[in-house]
Amino acid sequence: MATVTWTNKTPSAISATLEIVGFYSGKSVPAGAHSAIEVALGKNYKQLLSRLNFEGKAESTILLDGSKRAVLVVGLGDPKKLTMPILRKASAHAGRAASSFGSAVASYGIAASKVLDANEVATGMLEGFNLGTYVYDSYKKSNKIDLKKVIVSDVTKASTVAAFKRSAAICEGVLWAREAINTPPNAKAPKALAADIQKLFKSSVVKVTVLDEAAIKKKKMAGVMAVGQGSENRPRFVRLSYRAPGAKKTLAFVGKGVIFDSGGLSIKVGDGMKSMKCDMSGAAAVAGAFKAIAQMKPKVNLEGYIPLVENMPSGSAYRVDDIITYRNGVTVEVQNTDAEGRLILADALIEASEGKPDGIVDLATLTGSCVVALGDSIAAALSNSDTFRGKVIDASEKAGERFWPMPLPSDYRALIDTPVATVANAGARAAGTITAGLFLQEFVNVDHWCHLDIAGPAFLDKTDGENTAGGTGFGVRTLVQLAESYV
Ligand code: BES
Ligand code: MN
Ligand code: ZN
Repeated sequence: MATVTWTNKTPSAISATLEIVGFYSGKSVPAGAHSAIEVALGKNYKQLLSRLNFEGKAESTILLDGSKRAVLVVGLGDPKKLTMPILRKASAHAGRAASSFGSAVASYGIAASKVLDANEVATGMLEGFNLGTYVYDSYKKSNKIDLKKVIVSDVTKASTVAAFKRSAAICEGVLWAREAINTPPNAKAPKALAADIQKLFKSSVVKVTVLDEAAIKKKKMAGVMAVGQGSENRPRFVRLSYRAPGAKKTLAFVGKGVIFDSGGLSIKVGDGMKSMKCDMSGAAAVAGAFKAIAQMKPKVNLEGYIPLVENMPSGSAYRVDDIITYRNGVTVEVQNTDAEGRLILADALIEASEGKPDGIVDLATLTGSCVVALGDSIAAALSNSDTFRGKVIDASEKAGERFWPMPLPSDYRALIDTPVATVANAGARAAGTITAGLFLQEFVNVDHWCHLDIAGPAFLDKTDGENTAGGTGFGVRTLVQLAESYV
């Protein structure tokens, strides 16, 4: 993974093995936009690129030999149509195309953009170069890439430096989440993952409390106990807390932390179990967001609730037909032990509601139905408040993550009725993402709650722009953006 830094110097003043330059297409390229490429490739750069059929389409790249060093030209498309997603993707492609070079200096001719300001360009470049060059290499050293750093040139304004710093803090949180998600389940038992989170906030403004099994029992967290009882790896419950002096509002973040989801006795079949190490992506997103927030220090109070369990079949596992009695009086008939996420989130939502925050956001790789509905790139947002859901989605758009609203129709609650308990933990196949949301709502006791089903984008088979294959850290950027705007 390449670290991104910045300098007020021009590219030629920076020693690096590669120079990355932006190239815009179309007729309306403003003066100065191509000055870096002109220095790197000479006055005839346009003829040179056109001979090579390089048109500067967004996200295309071409590697050339400049007079002094190698030059990677990055297409940025029409400057009038430049957007943050294009910038992130183009930079991610460029970072990967540059991965065999030790270091690079990058210049996009920031003046060229008619729609984005310098701070946005900085954010897009950093997120693309940094997140786009991530590879999980803990168990395969040959995955390591050579590109250690990308230095962005011509950064002169203090506000742009601030934008870079903010973005670097966010990316640190995203990358921590990716590492945690990609970590194999045999290396992240609830106890180990809780310890990793504790380590992440060692000497930090964020305070961490880890509840062990005895403390979980004492708090009557019936869902965590039930789902966790089949595994030798005993559950944990992690609490995070960030207090800002003078803050007027408090947000609570809840993350599903199933370190491995075998399905339990309702065991997953075929390829269904593959990649289920990703089932703690909600938990990772919450911890990653707190990591970024600890550096950014927004003026809002934040509470984090992270239940950690392993869902396994065994002689001690919870069963289909079991009835779980929650602390808030709700009883749940287990109809499928593979609908485990909602059972542990229930305890966390009860706990979070008791803190009476101004809003609760939960993130979970909750339903396969959500992947069917929205695919790999879009997550679902379900809420008891249209305005709160709007705020979450607005934040996600700014942050570069995609969500789409889904309804919580009260008549659909009948789909999870059962004659023997308040609610069943699973319904038939129909409206699986919605019934999961309606289930969670039974445990929410605040007016502003938003449930984010991130089952699709949390883990990718194939790299897509700045989101690399494997765990993506999806959700971190939205949570941070929401925290910043929710003051
Ligand atoms: N962790 C899974 C959901 C999931 C599926 C996440 C695919 C990421 C990718 C969840 O615990 C689950 O098993 N859900 C069931 C619910 C059903 C039994 C009601 C599902 O979606 O099939
Ligand atoms: Mn499951
Ligand atoms: Zn699960």
